[in-house]
Amino acid sequence: MIKSGLAGALALVGLSACTPTESAAPAAPAAEAAAPVEVAELPVAEDPVARGQYLVSITGCHDCHTAMTPTGPDMAHALQGGPLPFAPLAEMPWAPIAPSIAGLPEGWTEAEFTAFLSGGPRPSGVPVLPPMPPYAMNDADAKAVTAYIASLPRAE
Ligand code: HEC
Repeated sequence: MIKSGLAGALALVGLSACTPTESAAPAAPAAEAAAPVEVAELPVAEDPVARGQYLVSITGCHDCHTAMTPTGPDMAHALQGGPLPFAPLAEMPWAPIAPSIAGLPEGWTEAEFTAFLSGGPRPSGVPVLPPMPPYAMNDADAKAVTAYIASLPRAE
């Protein structure tokens, strides 16, 4: 689970670094085109909580912010934080604990959380350490993720 999540995140980074070029392989003739890949239906923006849940499931938040068990993240305590189950091989700035973000972090407004996911600072101004990825979501996605995470019960 962790592996696939991180690999996915890295793949995304790789993809975003590519720019389409004219030299791309010519499109295959229609008759030989591969069957379209089946993907989960993207919940539409009218239901921000459902869309936020989907976005959280594909962006890997659970890999770090939900306690890991041998069978995957402990979804009964989704996004309630905990020590990371992995560490870097080389010395680097590193935060070994992912804080609880379920119900939004204590003292954060929804607007502050949305701004943070859009690439803004933490409300406290304290820089966020790796391995927290620097997300730069668009406004609609950041608001949907905020709506979903705000709907989750806080850690007790
Ligand atoms: C690879 C691990 C990892 C992933 C994936 C990850 N985070 Fe984090 N996140 C962290 C760690 C570790 C911190 C603590 C950083 C620090 O203490 O400086 C953190 C901090 C945060 C904070 C600041 C909380 C606070 O109280 O200051 C927010 C908000 C947050 N993450 C949201 C998210 C969201 C939303 C996602 C998914 C879209 C996500 N994170 C994905 C590891 C991760």
